[in-house]
Amino acid sequence: MTTNIAFIGFGGVGQALAEILAEKKESLLESYGFDSKIVAVADVMKGSVYDPEGLHVNDLLEAVRDTGSVEAYEGSSNLIKGLSSIDTITNSNADVIVEVTFTDVNTGEPAITHCRTAFEHHKSVVTTNKGPVALAYRELAELAANNDVFFGFEGTVMSGTPALRMPIETLAGNKITEIRGILNGTTNYILSEMEKGQSYEGALSKAQELGYAEADPTSDVEGYDARYKAAILSNYIMGVEISHTDVYCEGITHITKNQVQSALKENKKWKLLARIKQENGTVVASVQPECIDATDPLASVTGATNAILYECDLSGPILLTGAGAGLKETGFSLLIDLIHYQKQKKLTKI
Ligand code: HSE
Repeated sequence: MTTNIAFIGFGGVGQALAEILAEKKESLLESYGFDSKIVAVADVMKGSVYDPEGLHVNDLLEAVRDTGSVEAYEGSSNLIKGLSSIDTITNSNADVIVEVTFTDVNTGEPAITHCRTAFEHHKSVVTTNKGPVALAYRELAELAANNDVFFGFEGTVMSGTPALRMPIETLAGNKITEIRGILNGTTNYILSEMEKGQSYEGALSKAQELGYAEADPTSDVEGYDARYKAAILSNYIMGVEISHTDVYCEGITHITKNQVQSALKENKKWKLLARIKQENGTVVASVQPECIDATDPLASVTGATNAILYECDLSGPILLTGAGAGLKETGFSLLIDLIHYQKQKKLTKI
């Protein structure tokens, strides 16, 4: 069974997934029976190409790298260029839409519209955009279920570190009563660098250089990025729907190097912590800087690394730590979703 894939958006994350699919084609088939074909790419900046028979991934990647446009790709006589994103979703022969557009986190658009359109046309979606899950989770999950299609969004929290699927699947049977986490790599990197004597501004520029920060780093340093992730964790893991605006949010901009270094002398660390706590069927969630004891398992998480501590009633606390950003890691999160899509398809024969 071959999964036909269309990319909506083809920036760094989309290209990273395309590379992984090409590089691992044989091992994915051998180990998981996973076989895929990229049939379309539509990107507002890079143009669009669609070949129902499948595109040659390496030629496609070469065309983008050389010219910045996917339309420089030359394929078979079946090739259609210039379709819009919506046309690609509705009219291509893709089974799964990989939604990796540059989406405004405040509105969730255009990703929410792309998900909705795909589900209404009986197509599955895998995405790393936070907006659809933080702002419209219930509507989209119901729409996907009603149309018997798959909705995967593993990479929206902690990129390729399985912060969403691990607690739901591997820890199944537990009641997760509280989640505490370091969900933003940029701010954790800045605070770690300030411990070493670096200035806030210097550490932020370095985080931007290293590609951890969002296009507008305000979202990182003011805690908005972590707030969206906290809403996703509540909606998906706790099963209690909240909006990002229900999450109390305070960033790290007022934390000084002096505060960070004085805390160190007292065996404490400043961390931007997200907390999501179940209380009588509701959830209380916050993102704020906290000065935690060095013995706290989250205190040893340094640099751009993310971590989540799940408080579980049966297994006790479980700590998950790993990358929370990066092109390859985020591309990998989409692969996890695609493999699960195919597994579910085999089971349900959708
Ligand atoms: N800017 C984010 C971070 C990237 O620093 O964690 C992943 O959402």
